Amino acid sequence: MSADTSAAPARVPRFVQLYRHDDARLKAELQAGLAAIPAQVSPKFLYDALGSRLFDAITELPEYYPTRTEALIMQRCSVELAAALGTVNTLVDLGAGNCAKAGRLFAVLRPRRYVAVDISVDFLRQSVLCLQREHPQVDMLGVGSDFSEQLVLPPEAGDGPRTVFYPGSSIGNFTPSLAVQFLRQVHTQCAGGQLLIGVDLVKPDEWLVPAYDDALGVTAAFNLNILRHINALLGCRFDLRQWRHVALFNRQHSRIEMHLEARTAQRVDWDGGHRDFAPGERIHTENSYKYEPADFEALLREAGFSSVQRWTDDRRWFGVFVAQA
Ligand code: AVJ
Repeated sequence: MSADTSAAPARVPRFVQLYRHDDARLKAELQAGLAAIPAQVSPKFLYDALGSRLFDAITELPEYYPTRTEALIMQRCSVELAAALGTVNTLVDLGAGNCAKAGRLFAVLRPRRYVAVDISVDFLRQSVLCLQREHPQVDMLGVGSDFSEQLVLPPEAGDGPRTVFYPGSSIGNFTPSLAVQFLRQVHTQCAGGQLLIGVDLVKPDEWLVPAYDDALGVTAAFNLNILRHINALLGCRFDLRQWRHVALFNRQHSRIEMHLEARTAQRVDWDGGHRDFAPGERIHTENSYKYEPADFEALLREAGFSSVQRWTDDRRWFGVFVAQA
């Protein structure tokens, strides 16, 4: 027997790479941060291949409540969310990764087109191909772009109203003023449409801190791995055993801070420079801002959004917001 030729040809996702990483620029950025006092490294360097897998493991930890709380809210309130969003034409998924979160919304949102954006289009390829097989009727596009620097979408993303999906409290990596700037760009991209965003909320230290300093030490490994990544990028030799993971909640700034703290005095050399670290000296690797619901709503309005609606879990630990652009 020959293959079935009566079915419509399967749709094939398209892929566009907008951003090519510029090694020289990344190196210069890293070196400047390491030389600064206090030393700092952007959290984007946490996500090399191993770092991305460690982050996936974090989302399964009992202490790390954001991922599962957000999923619970989206599941429980999916009908209300869909009603608040109305007809979804193009669903733009920022930081799509494995596309699983957006995929779970397809049944209720029924988007006509899906645009998955992540820093690397290679990482997106498999996930978008998989999702396309499950949803052959949806027009799919994978976009490789570092949207944290500038949010632009290629012409292939089409025009017409868009629904931007930005889950996982990734917005928490920006300071509030940079978050407003970023959300203004999002507003421009979804004018006439809307934003669906997940945001972690302020809560007592006893719940916040263990989420970033778990008993199994996965978050410690995730944080320390940034030094391995830096060693690979700069050809330097951070000795991971000489560093300790530190997570604290800075209530004044309403943010979790992750640092790496030197256990001993040491010098780290790289091509064209070095840094001496004293015992106890820290490298700041991440901020994760936590919001009061009313404060995040005000931030959305400052970025140009209106008619903000929000959903939370019973403990009010995490917020899901829909805002009209
Ligand atoms: C991916 C930025 C939302 O801040 O909770 C998890 C990253 N860092 N554990 C967060 C993270 C340590 C995560 N975000």
